[in-house]
Amino acid sequence: MIAHQASVGMSRTPQNIEIAPRNMHFDMHVLSTDWHGGDPFRTAFFNALSIMFPIGEQHFIDSVKYYRHRITDPVLAAQVRGFTAQEAVHRREHQNYNVTLCASRGFSLDKLERPVRRRQAWALRHLKPVVHLASTVAYEHWTAMLADSLLRKPQDLEGAHPDMVALWRWHAIEESEHKAVAFDVYQAIGGSLWLRRWMMLIVTLQFFNDTFRNMRLMLKGYQGSRVALWARGMKFLFGKGGVYRGLGRAYVDYFRAGFHPWDHDNSAMVAHITRELELDRAAA
Ligand SMILES: [Fe+2]
Ligand SMILES: [Fe+2]
Repeated sequence: MIAHQASVGMSRTPQNIEIAPRNMHFDMHVLSTDWHGGDPFRTAFFNALSIMFPIGEQHFIDSVKYYRHRITDPVLAAQVRGFTAQEAVHRREHQNYNVTLCASRGFSLDKLERPVRRRQAWALRHLKPVVHLASTVAYEHWTAMLADSLLRKPQDLEGAHPDMVALWRWHAIEESEHKAVAFDVYQAIGGSLWLRRWMMLIVTLQFFNDTFRNMRLMLKGYQGSRVALWARGMKFLFGKGGVYRGLGRAYVDYFRAGFHPWDHDNSAMVAHITRELELDRAAA
């Protein structure tokens, strides 16, 4: 009864946002090249993000699904189904991405995935389900912030191959649509504020550590000046108009007691780009 009352009317996703999977398939052949405008750093950055997704997204699905039975708000329950279905298609496409990438560039997928896999195995043995959910909520905030950056700033993907632009924009749209689902589940089950805050700090360290480790591995064979490559790359990530530029406010906001992912309402932009990409017709 308490669980029932706690989860009634818990969804705060705007009503014009529908969370439904699109059964997309992407041509990955361009992954054998520096597909982001011939730039090895930019290409490695997006490739390193992709490496994290299949394991990460399975973890998101499992940690949200664990609490399914506690959700009695029919709207949120439907959104949980939409969230897991969207993440399952992301997993499939990024698994295909990673296998194609590693086969064509001579990377070891096992080596790239190893630290995350090991950490995950340890966490599953030692941490409570609510900690897994709190980590998912934090990762979902990171993906929502990055998605917003990709959609808002076309220069993030300027010069990239159209097949990859399509894949990353599709993923960004769906991350934006379902950005509050794990959060609303966390609220519905009474997850604490301090755990949400702590997990964001830990997840932030993990996120940057995993990305840069894999970028270093992927850029090992680079022949030119590494200093110049990383200096240019850091500008792309943190410089004026860069991928991470302007995310500070959204990041700090997460630590506020009354924070909600839809406080930053980008639904109009998401709806606009969805129509522009004709993704509104692509629902599975
Ligand atoms: Fe995803
Ligand atoms: Fe997600």
